[in-house]
Amino acid sequence: MCGIVGYFGFRRADQVIISALKRLEYRGYDSWGVAVKHGNGLEIIKMVGAIGDVENYSLAEGSIGIGHTRWATHGKPSEINAHPHKDCNNKIAVVHNGIISNFQSLREELERKGHKFSSETDTEVIPHLIEEEYRGDLIEAVMKAVEKLKGSFAIVVMHAEKEELVAVRYKSPLIIGVGDGEWFIASDVPAVLDYTNRVIYLEDGDILRIGNDGFKIWNNGKEVERRVETVPWSIEDAEKGGYEHFMLKEIHEIPRVVEDTLFEYLSEGIDLDVSFSAGISEIVFVACGTSYHASLIGKYLIEKLTGIPVRVEFASEFIYNPPPMGRTLVIAITQSGETADTLEAMRMAKKLGAKVVAIVNVLGSTATRIADNILYTRAGPEISVAATKSFIAQLVVLYLLALKLSKMPGSEIEKLVDELRIMPELVRKILEREEEIEQIAEEIAKYEDIMYIGRGIGVAIAMEGALKMKEISYIHAEAYPAGELKHGPFALLGRETPVIALLVSDETYEIMLNNIKEVKARESPVIALADEEDREVEKYVDFVIRLPKTNPLYTAITYSVALQLLAYYTAKKRGCEIDKPRNLAKSVTVE
Ligand code: AGP
Repeated sequence: MCGIVGYFGFRRADQVIISALKRLEYRGYDSWGVAVKHGNGLEIIKMVGAIGDVENYSLAEGSIGIGHTRWATHGKPSEINAHPHKDCNNKIAVVHNGIISNFQSLREELERKGHKFSSETDTEVIPHLIEEEYRGDLIEAVMKAVEKLKGSFAIVVMHAEKEELVAVRYKSPLIIGVGDGEWFIASDVPAVLDYTNRVIYLEDGDILRIGNDGFKIWNNGKEVERRVETVPWSIEDAEKGGYEHFMLKEIHEIPRVVEDTLFEYLSEGIDLDVSFSAGISEIVFVACGTSYHASLIGKYLIEKLTGIPVRVEFASEFIYNPPPMGRTLVIAITQSGETADTLEAMRMAKKLGAKVVAIVNVLGSTATRIADNILYTRAGPEISVAATKSFIAQLVVLYLLALKLSKMPGSEIEKLVDELRIMPELVRKILEREEEIEQIAEEIAKYEDIMYIGRGIGVAIAMEGALKMKEISYIHAEAYPAGELKHGPFALLGRETPVIALLVSDETYEIMLNNIKEVKARESPVIALADEEDREVEKYVDFVIRLPKTNPLYTAITYSVALQLLAYYTAKKRGCEIDKPRNLAKSVTVE
């Protein structure tokens, strides 16, 4: 998820574009670039890192330009890989948000025709394709070029000799900001609100041309009209997409995140290279916090589906007593790729001769430079300190890894993959029912202690649910395997300690229902998470959070989304600072 901008008007394009890009840095901030038309040439600046002070930068005079702030997906953050990208003659410049899935084959075809490429990006094929089609009419060349692209793309194109901008929207957001005698193109509304609140939301397949005579939009070769809407939001609201907090916005992005991560690894079959697992005798996960809980679910899945023994280590403890590394594969899970404890554990594992794989969300992060192999999650930038969408993306990669390593018959794997493909729909159903969860949160917000219990796959889900609640609501939440209660935690139960019980429709169901009855007998209020068709549980609990039916293996996703919402609305009810909770940081870069 990157941020792209275009400007056509009377102001200095460089200043307009750089300040607009700063408004889009929540979409990506590892590098940026701007191109301005100057005479019959293009002036371009590209930098690594976030923008910083706008005043620090200026390009040549010009009132037509494009810009990009990057969240690297193909090619690490660097000046070469930063956008805009150009054609061989430095006449055509392009900024892009999305992923061109067939870029490799297009690139090879263009190289055979003599085109020279300088970056590692998927995007660079676009200006070269346009160059191939260009006969003096920019929009015609763009229309022909995008027909060859597969994947998702929002692009803005400019030509050094043309007083116009051309833009395309396909499966990536793009808007027009309508000013008086000036027009703005952007990935999202915050980029234009300093200048106008009149916005047009482009639709899939729309191709836009802006010139001195105004703008026109085509779709499927026909000219179309799109409605101008007035946006009522402040800039801060807009960055959150109208949501009150980044955390809620990021929870609502989960269906797309699951789609993008599945898209990355699923073609005919599971397109995941596991050659790193050849000859291994065991797997050791190292991670911290939420990523540690994802590792626990990874252990459950891999042992259940492949029989390979798995250990999960707190990265911060691993370094003191690393297990012997025989034919051990070490998998480090880290959203940021910068968590000091996890990096140290990775370095230690390498020193001890283990192969190290990293499951990471941030391209070019330190973890990607230490690891031998990398599996990327496609959660995009996560702003809220509490990890939500990134956790779910980690689970999707772990499901695919366990299925790929499993020895199950192809038909069974296919069936499980099909059940995973419908996960975005199931998550949308849960998001539609968030009010029910909000009402229950209103009930539990008054407590200072909460206990989470589960069995089987439910244990790690409960631990992550408790961490979310702790992090943002400051309620003392603990999670236990339900079978552990009678060995001590029972002593804490009573009217002042509600229990959140995860009831999964698998071999643990009956005994878990018994545990719920035992908890209820000690007068604790009980909130159960259960399958929407379950009519039994409601007899024994105070509240039921009903979740769409799915394979018990996949409850780690459905139940976790519900627990993320429960923590969010409880913290909101308690008036907590949700996106930046006290004493915490998004990336813990100190040991
Ligand atoms: C989770 O909500 C927290 N932000 C924290 O526990 C986090 O998971 C932990 O610091 C690990 O971060 P990483 O995944 O970036 O390595």
